[in-house]
Amino acid sequence: MHTATRIEEVRNEVTELAQSTITAHELMEKMVRLLHDRMLKYNWVGFYMLEPGAKPPMLALGPFEGAMTPHTRIPLDQGICGAAASSGQTVVVDDVSKDPRYLACSLETKSEIVVPLFVHGTIVGELDIDSHFPAAFTPEHQSFVQHCAMLVGKKLESSPTKP
Ligand code: SME
Repeated sequence: MHTATRIEEVRNEVTELAQSTITAHELMEKMVRLLHDRMLKYNWVGFYMLEPGAKPPMLALGPFEGAMTPHTRIPLDQGICGAAASSGQTVVVDDVSKDPRYLACSLETKSEIVVPLFVHGTIVGELDIDSHFPAAFTPEHQSFVQHCAMLVGKKLESSPTKP
């Protein structure tokens, strides 16, 4: 199947999922499974959430699909994950072996995208996806993953006390 067609199909499925789930946690659990199952190059899909009140600020592993990672808590000054959370910007790395910030989760990982999650404009966490393929996260994928992160942010806004 053509990549653009698959992205379009899965975008619709994720949008429907956001409408049929009640809590953000349920949406996040189902979203990581859907993305991992349906997107062929998304080999590890997970959320990291900022720990409320942690000093120094810390990202904690949330719902994920794929192999267990050694990085269950990541400070904001470490990793691609820390870079995305501290800048509030999407980070795409086409070749993780060339990025000194990269914290290895799997030896097979070649490229990675991390998209921040916002609740009323404040960053609360991020959606992290690793691929076994180099440069998997083209602009079409970036826009799709940003859409996924936006849906979770909106769900967190509507159910803030029950993430
Ligand atoms: N690669 C990430 C760490 C998380 S694992 O990929 C699941 C990073 O460099 O921050």
